[in-house]
Order: sequence, then structure tokens, then C-alpha cells
Amino acid sequence: MIKTKNNTLFFDGCDTVELAKKYGTPLYVYSENDIISRFDELKECFTEKYERTRVAYAAKAFFPLAMAKLVDDCGMCVDVVSGGELYTAIKAGFPAEKIEFNGNNKQYEELEMAIEYGIGRIIVDGLTELDIIEEICKEKGKTAKILFRVTPGVQSTSHDYIVTGKKDSKFGIPLDVIMEQVKKAIDSEYIDFYGIHFHVGSQLFDNDSHLQAVEIFLKLAENIKNEFGYDLKEINLGGGFGVKYVDEERKPASYFIEPMMERIVNYYEAAGITRPNVVIEPGRSIVAEAGITLYTIGQIKDIKDIRKYVSVDGGMTDNIRPALYQAEYTGVIANKAEEEKTETVRISGKCCESGDILIRDLQIAHPERGDIFAIFSTGAYGYTMASNYNKNRIPGVVFVKDGADRVVVKPQSYDDMLMNEIL
Ligand SMILES: Cc1ncc(COP(=O)(O)O)c(C=O)c1O
Repeated sequence: MIKTKNNTLFFDGCDTVELAKKYGTPLYVYSENDIISRFDELKECFTEKYERTRVAYAAKAFFPLAMAKLVDDCGMCVDVVSGGELYTAIKAGFPAEKIEFNGNNKQYEELEMAIEYGIGRIIVDGLTELDIIEEICKEKGKTAKILFRVTPGVQSTSHDYIVTGKKDSKFGIPLDVIMEQVKKAIDSEYIDFYGIHFHVGSQLFDNDSHLQAVEIFLKLAENIKNEFGYDLKEINLGGGFGVKYVDEERKPASYFIEPMMERIVNYYEAAGITRPNVVIEPGRSIVAEAGITLYTIGQIKDIKDIRKYVSVDGGMTDNIRPALYQAEYTGVIANKAEEEKTETVRISGKCCESGDILIRDLQIAHPERGDIFAIFSTGAYGYTMASNYNKNRIPGVVFVKDGADRVVVKPQSYDDMLMNEIL
């Protein structure tokens, strides 16, 4: 979706320099075609290839109302992790039965909301959550369809903050206490027990930890069958498929999905049992590369014999990932997109933190005040992690498609920021 023409960067057919002029900067820009093509890839290798499979897009990656609508239009389900994400989905008209609810400390009111709306699945995480769900269902005369998120105890290679499947994690129910929870769920008249969920980590390029987790699931399914005579109805394999930020080699979704499906299908065929539904929950791999952020270059500070700092009009407030987990990005001067990259610079933000660096070392064309700088692959966990630190305003979001653009989130105004403050 990224192209250059006449020394200018184009994104899904739109001139990014014109977008910066029209809407101002910083600005998040998303290619709708890119998002749609990611869902199409999953349809081809997963939901249309195997029956009783679903994709529940992980809203945490990027989820304004327009994204909720796009996810629904593409025929996908959604995974939410808070009352706010749940409310967004409902407000966007997302069918409640296509919403799944994760989270390691769901609040009572959030669970009440979910049960009231009649959402599709609650993924129970924690030893007291089942009791709370039962209590709410009893009071409301409802039943809840649930899975348990387990900690499979597998290691995966990624930044420590996004590795979630190892034993020492705040996420998931440990395997040594899961059977009591399962028994409780099977016995409860308010609970419709579907199965097991795991999510081993994020930004992964090796399918090994997913495959190890599948083995643990199959063993657990066998124990549940032997002990309670219960066949699981569903397995949720989580997300975590890696994307290209700088020079990583993105693997096709089938690299992760195909071997897991092969193992699951073969296992159930051999056992003569109906295979459970299979669900995946990708977030990053759907939207990361579909988003870029446009900035305007301001101050340029050349420290003799040390380095050149090129400051832009945003920073850690619109993209916390470099400061939070040393995430790396690349970018280009959008109005000098075809010029020779002659300088090595550090792209810094405008916040009052020395750690507010967006790109540590990057080769770019000669930078000047007023140039438009584009950072690539900012579509996941950028806008959703944005903050008002230093009372910087959160930028707007524009969707582009085949040369047309539309605003889907207005840029925050100073008054928006002060809306809830009382003098
Ligand atoms: C339970 C769960 N599912 C899905 C995801 C999405 O992961 P990713 O964005 O890496 O695909 C996460 C991310 O943290 C998660 O915790």
C-alpha cells in the first residue's frame, strides 16, 4: 500500500503530504485495503478452509468505532478486554454474540454489562471470576458461555512485557488448579462451559510456542474427558503473529495456523471425537502495517561529533512503544521520499522525557523544518496506547482507501482534554 511518486510518499493511493496539509499533524493514517487484505488472508487459510472456526480480532490493537464496523463488515468476531472496548463494539452495532471478553481482572460492572448484552464468550481468567459470573447470571436469570484462559507454561521469544504464556505471568489459570475450575463450570446450571483459551505472547516469528501450547491443550482435553466424561466444544489459540516494523521477515498467517490445525484435526480424527471449534485472536498482525503516522519536523539539533536530533511534533504520547519496550521503527521524509538518504539522525518527540525517542538511528534525506516525516507500521498499539502526557492532544485518525480519505477520529481539542476537569 506504500508507494512513492514524484518524490512523495503515497499510502493506499493517497498523497501523504496532502493529507498532512489537509488534516494537520501528528496524524494516524490507516489503509482500509491493507486491513481487509489481512482478514482475507485469514479467511483463505483458516475460516473458509476449516469449518467451525472464527477470528476474534483483538480490539486492544486498534479499535475506534470505524474499526469496529470494518471488523464486522469483514465478517469477523471481536475480542475485547474492558467495559470501554465492549461499549465501543456495541455502539458500533457489533452483534453481541460475536463479542468475546478477555481480561485478567474484569470488574463486576464489566461482567454485568457483558452478561446483560448477552455476548458470545467470556474467557475466564482468575480463580474467583467464575463465582462472580455465576452470581450475576443467577440474579439476571441468564447463562454465560465461557472458556478458561490457562497459562500453558511455555516460553516464547519476544520482549518480556509481551510474553504471556510462561508460568510466572499475571495472565491465565495455572494448569495445576484448572481441573477444579472445570468441574465447577461443568456442574453449574448458569454456565455453558465451552473450552480452553491460551495466548502465548505477541510479536512472535516462531510457531514453536503455539505448537507446544496445542500439545498442552490436547493433554488437558484428554484429562477432562477421562475425569468428567466431557468433550470440549472450543479451543482458542490466541494471537501473537509477528509483523514487520523494520526488517523483520513477516511470516504468512498459515505458518502459525496450518500446523496447529493439522495437529488438532488429526488428533480428533484419530480419537473419533468431534473436533472442538477453533478460534484465533490476532490484533497486531491485522493492523500494524496498515497504519502510518505523519509528523512535521520542527527543531533540528546537530551536536558536533555526536549526533543530529530531528524533533517531530508528536512522540511518546502518540507512540509509547519505543519508550516502553524499545520497539524499533523506520520512516521516511514523505516530501523527499525518493531522495538519497545522506544523513543518520535520531528522531525525537516533543515530550519532556529524554526517553521520548521514536527512532534511535535512521538514514534519511537531508531534513529541514516543515518536512513531513512518516513512520511506518504504527497501526497497532499506537493510537490505543496514546496519552495526554504534557497535555499534548491525541491526534486524529484518517482512513484511506484507493485514493480517498475520511476522518474516523477527530483530533482531540484542548477543550476535549479539559472536559472532565473542574475548576
Ligand atoms: C488474550 C489475548 N489475545 C490476543 C492478543 C493479541 O495479540 P497480538 O496483537 O500480538 O496478535 C493479546 C495481546 O496481548 C491477548 O492478551
